[in-house]
Amino acid sequence: MKMDISVVTLVFGLLMFGGGSARVVTVPPGPLIRVEGQPVSIRCDVTDYSGPREQDFEWMTAREATGSRLRIISSFDPSYSDPSFSKRVASGDISVVRLQDNEVELKVAEVKATDGGYYWCLTPSTDSTMSGNYDARVQLTVIPNTLRVSPLTPPPAVSEGSDLTLSCNVTRELSHATYLSVTWSVKRGATSEDILTLGPQGDVVTGAKYARRYADGGIRLVPGRNGLFELVITKVTTSDDGVYECNGTEWTHDNRGKWTKIVASTREMGTVAVTPTGQSLSVKASSSSPPLLSPGETLTLLCSVAADNLPALALEVAWLADGRDVVTMDRSGVVIHNASAGGSRAPASLERTDAGEYRLGVRGVSGEDAGAYACRVRAFVDKGGRSSGGGGRWLLAAEKTSGAVAVKVAQTKPSFAVTLEAVLKPQMTAEPTELACHVTNITHLPLEGRLGVTWEHTPLPGAGSDPQTSQPVGSLDGRGNLLPAAMYSDRLRSGEISLTRVQPDTFKLRFLRTQEVDMGQYGCSVAAWSANSQGDAAKTAEHQSAPLAVRWVTARPTLNVVAKRVREASVGGATFEMSCAVATVNLGEAGYSVLVQSQDSLEGSVRTIMTLSPDNVLQHGGATDPTRRDGLVLTKFGPAEFRFRLAGVQLSDRGFYWCDITAWTKQQAGQTWTRATSNESNKVKIDFQENGPSFAVALQSDTTIVYPWETAKMECSLSVSGSSPKTGAHADDLAYEVRWFFTRLRGGETTTQVASVDRFGVVRKDARNSSSDVSVERKDAHAYTLNIHGTQDSDSGEYHCVATPWYLSASTGAWTQAGELTSSRVFLTVRFAVWESLKLPLLYGVGASIGVGLFSLVLGLVCAQCCCRNTTHTPRSRNNLMDLEMD
Ligand SMILES: *[C@@H]1O[C@H](CO)[C@@H](O)[C@H](O)[C@H]1NC(C)=O
Ligand SMILES: *[C@@H]1O[C@H](CO)[C@@H](O)[C@H](O)[C@H]1NC(C)=O
Ligand SMILES: *[C@@H]1O[C@H](CO)[C@@H](O)[C@H](O)[C@H]1NC(C)=O
Ligand SMILES: *[C@@H]1O[C@H](CO)[C@@H](O)[C@H](O)[C@H]1NC(C)=O
Ligand SMILES: *[C@@H]1O[C@H](CO)[C@@H](O)[C@H](O)[C@H]1NC(C)=O
Ligand SMILES: *[C@@H]1O[C@H](CO)[C@@H](O)[C@H](O)[C@H]1NC(C)=O
Repeated sequence: MKMDISVVTLVFGLLMFGGGSARVVTVPPGPLIRVEGQPVSIRCDVTDYSGPREQDFEWMTAREATGSRLRIISSFDPSYSDPSFSKRVASGDISVVRLQDNEVELKVAEVKATDGGYYWCLTPSTDSTMSGNYDARVQLTVIPNTLRVSPLTPPPAVSEGSDLTLSCNVTRELSHATYLSVTWSVKRGATSEDILTLGPQGDVVTGAKYARRYADGGIRLVPGRNGLFELVITKVTTSDDGVYECNGTEWTHDNRGKWTKIVASTREMGTVAVTPTGQSLSVKASSSSPPLLSPGETLTLLCSVAADNLPALALEVAWLADGRDVVTMDRSGVVIHNASAGGSRAPASLERTDAGEYRLGVRGVSGEDAGAYACRVRAFVDKGGRSSGGGGRWLLAAEKTSGAVAVKVAQTKPSFAVTLEAVLKPQMTAEPTELACHVTNITHLPLEGRLGVTWEHTPLPGAGSDPQTSQPVGSLDGRGNLLPAAMYSDRLRSGEISLTRVQPDTFKLRFLRTQEVDMGQYGCSVAAWSANSQGDAAKTAEHQSAPLAVRWVTARPTLNVVAKRVREASVGGATFEMSCAVATVNLGEAGYSVLVQSQDSLEGSVRTIMTLSPDNVLQHGGATDPTRRDGLVLTKFGPAEFRFRLAGVQLSDRGFYWCDITAWTKQQAGQTWTRATSNESNKVKIDFQENGPSFAVALQSDTTIVYPWETAKMECSLSVSGSSPKTGAHADDLAYEVRWFFTRLRGGETTTQVASVDRFGVVRKDARNSSSDVSVERKDAHAYTLNIHGTQDSDSGEYHCVATPWYLSASTGAWTQAGELTSSRVFLTVRFAVWESLKLPLLYGVGASIGVGLFSLVLGLVCAQCCCRNTTHTPRSRNNLMDLEMD
């Protein structure tokens, strides 16, 4: 090309500066090596000529440089050719093409071996003077076509990520200095793209789209031997699909440095399809454990991964249990346990045992490890060739999950049998009971497993609770803790009932003193406890014994109490004595509490006179007169007899008397009494007729109308009549208890006691609201006077007295109380005091009119006179109170 440019420049220079110089005809330097059957073109130009710008050319050839020349073709004379060439010229096989005014090209479409020789380019002179050369000569060597391009057919399918080797055998027979180049290209549809060209100088030229991949090492050449050229495309992707071709080209290199392609051959190597990883990736899960695992065994599962390009893949392998990640090995081989999913499961291990083999191990499986296990594989391919990081960029090529492997963990429950036997059976109440619960034929009880027991009791029908409802007595849990049931907690705590484990496989229930309520059916239920994976105790099996009946013929305790009169009180003042004898049946040692009760008549209300506790504590009933307590005695007279004595029987003591006795037992010495049974005795009557005197009472007053400050008198007189040992003349055998009552009629009818005198003569004055004073005076043996000194308006009202006579009984010589007597009522009027009403005006004193003063004075005098006339003389000494004889 350089030469062409210089030739043009030269021609241009000649044209501009005109002639005078010598003509130069130029052809390429030879020898030209061309391949038989290939086109040949030889250029020829002329410079430094004069005459017309368009020059004519003629071509001649000869085998030898000195041989006779044959005319081939002329640019201006169609008849120029030698007959030996005229056919080829006519067919166009040989032609001359004008390139410029001063340049033509001789073209041979298919050069023949016989065309080898010397070629002359001639220019007829157009110069005014002959100067320079008018022709030029070049040698053409025609060699046979020995170029062979034979590619090796690549595999039609390559997996993604693997390498593709494109081998092509390009050879030629070396006779002359020729060179080879190889070009690999790929065709997709209509477009073909060069991948890489090697040669002809050993240089490498990459296709535009492959430059980066080649630079990164993703495409590399393998040095060939014997003409074999190999191109390796690494880590193919689906974009590398296509029809691959191989082109071999033979070149010559002329001595002016110009490379000329002399023959080329392109061969199709074959169609290559890249199989995506997902298509070839297969994941299979299999189990090498028995189909049914026992708890505690090891589960081993194998995940087999296969892919066409397995070595080229980076795998992330995860085991899923029921869809939850258990453990994962990431693509760098790090094992990650999923705490959130596997928290309750046994620890899992995951290791790679071989290429594409991943083993999951779960040691010490429990029921919770059962499930559907699957292996999930994520395949990554290194995009290395197209990344600058060099292997750092991973592309998820495919993800596949295996079919599920069912993992079953047998629920091997511990098995055992429970039998219940009575070691001790009570024959009657309060005898001990001992039941033994035996656990036999124990299998599958884990080493750390424990047994616990629950005792149950089903009371007899009608024993106070719902029949057929079993109640727990208590349990011993797997750790041996005693858990009492609410109903039995007191008795279990006190040790009266014990619940123990006497041997690893025997539990006992003991009653120290079996009660009637304890009768019924007993059952023991034994549970096996094991620690689950979280360490908590879990009940794994439970078996119940057959029920065992505990009962005896109950002899209900009966208690009979017989009351007998020991001393009869036939007259007032006599002593009454009663014996209460206790007889029991079906009752062992017992304590008794006694109530002595009475009632006036069989319909009357019941009074409790005295009580005696089983611990011999004596108490008086609330109804007893405190003054008579000395006369009341209740004692234990024998192991089963009590005596009640009532001294000085009065009329009011008449009625029925009996004992109410309760038997008490003790469960254990030192414990509290438990009520066993109780019963009442027959009733014993106190009845006597007192034919003593009969009494009457009357209340009199001389003056029932008094003025303020006067003294009012009320005389309560008693009269005796009927059979009396000693009549009223002698007061020694007669005494009275007298009480006065006042009923205010204004402002509500309230009756209050004013004063009293007891039979011993002791006077008692009751608190009153009035400013007046009272005194009591004994006028004689049968009359008592109440004096109201300095009467007030407030003393107006009704008065009456109540008397209780006491007399010395002729038959017994004892003081006897007669019935209470109530007098009729006397109304006392205290007149309105005029003087009092006048005090106030007087105080206003001096300024009052004389008339009024006189009137007042007169009135005052009149009034004073009136008052004085009705007043009895001086009040009695308050100390002059009666003094009654004492008994
Ligand atoms: C290449 O082809 C030539 C001739 O066709 C043969 O001699 C040579 O062994 C081949 N090379 C290989 C590597 O097949
Ligand atoms: C063969 O390769 C040469 C050199 O790259 C090129 O010029 C020629 O066109 C190619 N032949 C075919 C058929 O592709
Ligand atoms: C753990 O398991 C849960 C539930 O299967 C899942 O959502 C989570 O992604 C897992 N975590 C890891 C780190 O695998
Ligand atoms: C315990 O096992 C033996 C032998 O297998 C059997 O004869 C016996 O009846 C079993 N005992 C119970 C309580 O099941
Ligand atoms: C109470 O006494 C009566 C008469 O002696 C007797 O029939 C009855 O069975 C006794 N009751 C009890 C509970 O002891
Ligand atoms: C005294 O008077 C007050 C108030 O009027 C009354 O509540 C009280 O019962 C009276 N006392 C007697 C002893 O009458």
